[in-house]
Amino acid sequence: MIKTRITEKFGIKYPIISAPMGPFYTTELAVAVSEAGGLGVVSHATLRGKNSVKDFKEQLDYVVEHTDKPFGLNVRVARVQTDHRVLLRKIPQWRNENPKLREQLIYGLTSAGGPRLAGKMWNEKAPDMYHFHVGPALWLVDKIVESGCEGIVATGTEGGGHQSYEGVTTLVLIQQVAQKYPDKLLVGCGGFASPEGVAAGLAMGADAIAMGTRFIASTQSEFRQNYKDLIIPATARDTMLTTGGFGPIRLLKNKYCLEHGKIMTKEEKIAQELSYEMDEYLKDLYAYEIVYTKGDVVDGAVPVGQTCGLIDSILNVDDIVSGYTKKAEVLLKKLCSNIS
Ligand SMILES: Cc1cc2nc3c(=O)[nH]c(=O)nc-3n(C[C@H](O)[C@H](O)[C@H](O)COP(=O)(O)O)c2cc1C
Repeated sequence: MIKTRITEKFGIKYPIISAPMGPFYTTELAVAVSEAGGLGVVSHATLRGKNSVKDFKEQLDYVVEHTDKPFGLNVRVARVQTDHRVLLRKIPQWRNENPKLREQLIYGLTSAGGPRLAGKMWNEKAPDMYHFHVGPALWLVDKIVESGCEGIVATGTEGGGHQSYEGVTTLVLIQQVAQKYPDKLLVGCGGFASPEGVAAGLAMGADAIAMGTRFIASTQSEFRQNYKDLIIPATARDTMLTTGGFGPIRLLKNKYCLEHGKIMTKEEKIAQELSYEMDEYLKDLYAYEIVYTKGDVVDGAVPVGQTCGLIDSILNVDDIVSGYTKKAEVLLKKLCSNIS
């Protein structure tokens, strides 16, 4: 049995978290991961639309109806994510209205922007919910710590989906954060999809490991079968960083990705956002929407991490959550037994 600060504080059995993967839904997946003894995370699935706040609430209600275990959620606080302020305000309100939700929703992860606004709202209105923020480089982790977050999700450049301009690897980042902020709760994310990875991440100082692509290729995830099927044969070289809605994004090199082209600089991206006509913005979003609405994995954007090079079968969530942890435990024990 591996105990960490996160398993103890969150009341979970295994130090495994499912990474948020909006605009895709991970509601069933969150239930399965939490039921398996890890921490499932509901994604900020909606990109736009009048119903996005109502939709988010329905996902949370679904989770508490289907499990009694702890779980978390993600809010992307990007400038162009127009519903984030309302969501940040509503989440504590929903928790206060529903004692079961309050008891189970213990982890609020913000990303794709700054942690300050969420910190201000949640510290006051949901002080019993752990606020974590995604940090892709040490200087940004400094800001997360300054803002008062309880924890950091250190996410390196090898990870799938939303990325940063920093290009720091998970390997280096986890060590940097563990050394500089030993008192902060730390989740390692990006590049994990094996028991060896889980063992290494914990050994470097992470209190839990979050995985995205590995969980897409699981029986219980609500990703379409043709999406899952692309991950199995893909190698670690089959992904590329390109320009997404909130900055760089790591996608599978399919037709859409190759035509969409190389990542823009931060300055170019900001200029693009400021000059965006609604039509252009909607066209970008459409590339993501057609993947889940129509299953179009050719003309649509397919976010995956370099971890697709480690994944060779679709697994049951239990085999990932408890199976990987137990194998990591064996690996760590073996390593310890080699020390004289
Ligand atoms: C399909 C997909 C969608 C993602 N969407 C989000 C998101 O909405 N918010 C976020 O913070 N990160 C998002 N990410 C990043 C993941 O939370 C996580 O950092 C990444 O999956 C880790 O790398 P891995 O896939 O190799 O495990 C997404 C990743 C994927 C694969």
